[in-house]
Amino acid sequence: MKLEFSAEPQAHFQEPWPNAYAIFSWLEFAISIPYPTYLITTLKENGKANACWHSWGCFSGTGQGYSALMVLTEGGHTCANILRAKEWCINLPQLEQRAPCENTVAHNGLENDEITDAGFTAEPSRIIRSPRIAECLVAMECQLTWHRPLFEDSGQRVFAGRIVHVALDERACTADPRLRLEQLNTMYNVLDTLDPLSGETRPGGLGIVRFP
Ligand SMILES: Cc1cc2nc3c(=O)[nH]c(=O)nc-3n(C[C@H](O)[C@H](O)[C@H](O)COP(=O)(O)O)c2cc1C
Repeated sequence: MKLEFSAEPQAHFQEPWPNAYAIFSWLEFAISIPYPTYLITTLKENGKANACWHSWGCFSGTGQGYSALMVLTEGGHTCANILRAKEWCINLPQLEQRAPCENTVAHNGLENDEITDAGFTAEPSRIIRSPRIAECLVAMECQLTWHRPLFEDSGQRVFAGRIVHVALDERACTADPRLRLEQLNTMYNVLDTLDPLSGETRPGGLGIVRFP
């Protein structure tokens, strides 16, 4: 039996935290699409590194090139840095690097060098000025193609960027897909899960992908 829902939240839905369904869509909590998480590195206006743990993104391309699409909250440092510098780097961290990823959220001040303050090491990119994170097995250097609000009056902005250079650690270069997933050990963001029938919400977490 299929259950049909309009996009409006219902009164009996438990919010996982105050205003959750105003800040995010309740549908994200009811549908649970796992998003891969990655660190977006950019440069602040003062030249210090910014690192943003992020998950609203996807990748697409053809023989004409490969691009990253990301949705960023307006008002955040990453959004401002990309609008100014028109570039960013996407670094894929492993589950084992969860603690330094969390540190990037805790040490988010303008004076922080967010890569080193988090416990990572910065390394220069090849094409862009934004630094890469040395410990991440994959780094994708991106240059801005276009950006626009998600919709009129939205507080979120969509960015598309061409991937102009990639650094792959040799450990991630195996042709064995099972081993590749084990090596990458990419963290997937699974938000708190809402049962729209009962309205109950339970804590989500970070998942990983494995072949059955
Ligand atoms: C697992 C995880 C995933 C996140 N995904 C996003 C995201 O997709 N979009 C977003 O705007 N913030 C996301 N955040 C929150 C940002 O990491 C956080 O607000 C960060 O401090 C913003 O940094 P900035 O102000 O330097 O851009 C996420 C946080 C965590 C812990």
